[in-house]
Amino acid sequence: MADNRFDGQEVPAHVAIIMDGNGRWAKKRGLPRKFGHREGAKTFRKITRHAKKIGIKYLSLYAFSTENWKRPKDEVDAIMDLFDKYLDEVRDFIEENIRVCFIGDRTRLSESLQRKMKSVEEDSKDFSAMTLILAINYGGQDEITRAVKAIAQKVSDGELSADDITPKVLEENLDTKEFPLVDLLIRPSGEQRISNFLIWQSAYAEYVFSDILWPDYKPSDLEDAVYEYLERNRRFGGV
Ligand code: FPP
Repeated sequence: MADNRFDGQEVPAHVAIIMDGNGRWAKKRGLPRKFGHREGAKTFRKITRHAKKIGIKYLSLYAFSTENWKRPKDEVDAIMDLFDKYLDEVRDFIEENIRVCFIGDRTRLSESLQRKMKSVEEDSKDFSAMTLILAINYGGQDEITRAVKAIAQKVSDGELSADDITPKVLEENLDTKEFPLVDLLIRPSGEQRISNFLIWQSAYAEYVFSDILWPDYKPSDLEDAVYEYLERNRRFGGV
């Protein structure tokens, strides 16, 4: 239940956040980039708990993109390590009644990570306070391409005809098929683009940008973004 300034108001059901600015946060302090990711991982935990507290039902966070493999190996390893540690600790979230799911192409991740991800998803599947969706090796274009391939296979197997393909069929083949579309997309750190995150699902989302670097992002910043969302008038293409 929401227990703060949003009591009684319709907070967005699905909030997506691009956790950006870790590298710059570290650079400003003369530290290696991986220290920024470590701080970013702390922010990730705080914001997840706060999202649940204010009544958000689905929270999607962009942790690693299909393009992030281009970064130096040391940095990629540091992010994978933080993810691995998080998977070991995720029991905390399970105690908090949070379901944890993953989107993205897992096949490029280590087998040990894939096993841990599967077990976290299974162990938390009945938890209902909030669903946390972590995007790992995720790219919206890659997700749509995989969905199109799956649909093409069904057509070639004779299970589906080309005329039956609708936006709904496409949605049913996305990694996010179980979740609602995005209501609010937040990008801190000063960039104003969505960088291939949930591009299909954010077609009608409200976008909130801010200059705060992710490691500095506070629960009150999330509340401010939700507040801005509530002030906007969403028309879904109507009048
Ligand atoms: C973008 O900042 C951030 C990432 C590519 C990694 C995000 C990862 C975490 C927050 C930690 C991982 C935690 C878990 C639990 C998976 P950037 O490096 O692009 O920052 P910059 O734009 O300032 O360089």
